Amino acid sequence: MNDARRLYHDLSWIWPIVSPPEDYVEETKSISHVVKKKAAIEARTLLHMGCGGGRNDFTFKEYFDVTGVDISDEMLRLARDLNPELTYIRGDMRFIGLGKTFDSVVALDSVNYMKTEEELNQLFRIAYDHLNPGGVFLTVVEEIRERFKQNRTISSTHSQQGKQITFVENSFDPDPTDNHFEMTFIYLVREKGNLEIFTDSHIWGLFKKETWHRLLRKAGFNVQELEFAHSTFLEDEFLPMFVCLKPQ
Ligand SMILES: C[S@@+](CC[C@H](N)C(=O)[O-])C[C@H]1O[C@@H](n2cnc3c(N)ncnc32)[C@H](O)[C@@H]1O
Repeated sequence: MNDARRLYHDLSWIWPIVSPPEDYVEETKSISHVVKKKAAIEARTLLHMGCGGGRNDFTFKEYFDVTGVDISDEMLRLARDLNPELTYIRGDMRFIGLGKTFDSVVALDSVNYMKTEEELNQLFRIAYDHLNPGGVFLTVVEEIRERFKQNRTISSTHSQQGKQITFVENSFDPDPTDNHFEMTFIYLVREKGNLEIFTDSHIWGLFKKETWHRLLRKAGFNVQELEFAHSTFLEDEFLPMFVCLKPQ
C-alpha cells in the first residue's frame, strides 16, 4: 500500500469538516498547561512540528507565540486561514533547520508518520536542536505495538454547510515484524441526495513504548511519561504522552 495521504493534498477540503477547531480545544489546553508546568524556563514560544490545518494552534496561540511547520502546502493554507497572525513555514520536521530556538516544541498527531527508528531519531534531534536549554519537547503517541488491534475500525460523522461526511478509519498491519502499519481512510460524502466515496491510504509508524523512551533518552532528553486523555476519537483511552526536558 502506498502512503498517499490524500487528506493532506487533493482531499484537504475534507479536513475542516471532519476536524473542527472546537474538537481540539480541551486537549490543546491540557497540553499547554503541561508544557508551562514542566518547562524549567518560562515557556513563551512554541514550535509546532506537523501543525497540519492549525486546529491545535487555534488554542495554542492563547498561551504561546506559535510557529508551525508542515510538509503539506494544502494543510498550511488551512492553518493560515484559521490563524493568519501566526508564522507558518513549509518544511519536513525530520530535516528542518530554522536557525532559531524555542522554549517549547510539540509534535502531536504528525509523529504517526515516522515509520522507522531512524525517522524518530531525526525528529527528536531536530526537536532538541530547536529547543532552548530548560525547554520542553512534548509528543503524544496514538498507536503503540503493545496495544495495537488488527482491523480496528472506527467511524465518525460530521456535517457542515449541507455536506455530511462519514469518516471511516481502519488499522491493519500486514507484517508485525516491521515498524509500520496501514491506516485506510474512507470518506462517505453526502450532499443534496448524492453520495461520493473517496478512499485514502496512510502508513503510520508502530513502535514499542520502550523504543520511544530509549530514542528520546538517546537524543539527550530527560523523559517523563504521562497519560493523555484524547478528546476527539479515542474515547475512554489514555495515550502515552512523553514530556522531554532539555537539560540546562
Ligand atoms: C493529522 S495532521 C495534523 C493536524 C493538526 N493537529 C491540526 O491541528 O490540524 C498530520 C500532519 O502531519 C504532517 N506531516 C506528516 N509528516 C510530516 C513531516 N515529515 N514533516 C512535517 N509535517 C509532516 C502532515 O502533512 C499533516 O498535516
